[in-house]
Amino acid sequence: MAVHESVVDAIGGTPLFRLSRLGAGLGAPVYAKAEFLNIGGSVKDRAALSMVLAAERDGLLRPGGTIIEATSGNTGIGLTIVGRQRGYRVIAGVSDRSAAEKSDILRAYGAEVVTAPTALPREHPEHLFNVVRRLADEIPGGWLANQYDNPANPDAHVRTTGPELWEQTGGRITHFVAGVGTGGTITGTGAFLKQVSAGAVTVIGADPEASSYGGGDGSPYFVESIGHFLHPGTAEDLWPESYRPDVVDGFERIPDRESLLTARRLAREEGLLGGPSSGTAVAAALRVARRLGPEDLVVVLLPDSGRSYLSKVFSDDWMRQWGFLEEPRSADDTEPTVRTVLEAAPGRLGRLPAVPADASLGDALALLREVPGGVAPVVLPRRERPFGVSATEVLGSLAAPAVAAALTGGRAAPDGPVTALLGPALPTVGIGHPLSAAREALGADGEAALVLLDGRAAALVHRTELGAP
Ligand SMILES: Cc1ncc(COP(=O)(O)O)c(C=O)c1O
Repeated sequence: MAVHESVVDAIGGTPLFRLSRLGAGLGAPVYAKAEFLNIGGSVKDRAALSMVLAAERDGLLRPGGTIIEATSGNTGIGLTIVGRQRGYRVIAGVSDRSAAEKSDILRAYGAEVVTAPTALPREHPEHLFNVVRRLADEIPGGWLANQYDNPANPDAHVRTTGPELWEQTGGRITHFVAGVGTGGTITGTGAFLKQVSAGAVTVIGADPEASSYGGGDGSPYFVESIGHFLHPGTAEDLWPESYRPDVVDGFERIPDRESLLTARRLAREEGLLGGPSSGTAVAAALRVARRLGPEDLVVVLLPDSGRSYLSKVFSDDWMRQWGFLEEPRSADDTEPTVRTVLEAAPGRLGRLPAVPADASLGDALALLREVPGGVAPVVLPRRERPFGVSATEVLGSLAAPAVAAALTGGRAAPDGPVTALLGPALPTVGIGHPLSAAREALGADGEAALVLLDGRAAALVHRTELGAP
């Protein structure tokens, strides 16, 4: 058994586990690299250590200095552990879309946490990336780790993750599968494996279906920390320098439901409690292994632990609320669900009447008059929506009577913006919700509810359809 003088010395050296149940019957064996067994609980410990050592070497970080980073949590944990052990103050800027448990862990390790939105155009001064950059400029001795563009991030994987996989598989690895966040993991590990195997190893990116890395439209998705999201207001789509697309041979694009359900299966069937991005990576690895033969060997990387997501992917209620889970709550639960009602009327599912936030009131009123109940959600404008409207893009609602009254009363003009009369967000119900739960969501006087399917607003369901008085 190893004895370490510091936790920092224990970073890396994680085990590989054969996915014997999930991988049963596939062409090639699949092994999972359990990065959640790192001292800080994720693959990011490696990048954090590498970036701090490089900054000290380059004179960017000096005694008494402050480490600052925009992080989904895991890089912050790694930087906090390494930074505190080496005597620095650490400030972590966390996205307001990130799981709350992640910020609690950062504080527990001694970081100061600053929360800022990422669902803003990248150029917006209050975007998380701009907030942390300002802090680094203002705090004397401040150093922004900037994992997105820091070469020491991918380099950590050239020096550790890649060589470990080559050694652990005795040089038999033929396919490496990983998600792409900053791109550090796939770029560094992939580049090493290609170099050491003289190009024989194939590198596959596991990407949320809507992410723009793998060819999606960059609209919101539900797997944290991987993929590339593009706010519709962002002028220039910048990819991180830590990501080198030429290292990646291809992508498997995984719908959110498949990612989340695979993470749940990974815990139940293999005893490996990974986060949602582990679900995406494993789903991709299983697809890859299905196409291969017994002479191949697939390795998939599990970036972090599911313990940080117990209230999301591992909560049946949360999964049902967002329309990712439809199985009955118990064996004797036979109550019809919202899906039953929608499927009874052909063409309802996937056809959501919605008002774009940049529409004029006159155009919006014409649209609302076609909608039963006269109420519809107002959504962020986007040119095309191949995956439908993400629930996180819904700004509020608009009701025909309110618009008509404002226009006839002279309080608004037909060419005025719909945002002037924006009403509250409609209640939401998951497509697998039983009708009684949907009626409860509507309350005493709600006219319609937004039906969520796979985290997307898929339809409106009206009070009368749910049997509400
Ligand atoms: C949970 C999780 N999965 C995947 C990744 C992506 O790794 P990388 O940034 O090396 O591409 C991260 C990075 O923050 C992460 O926290």
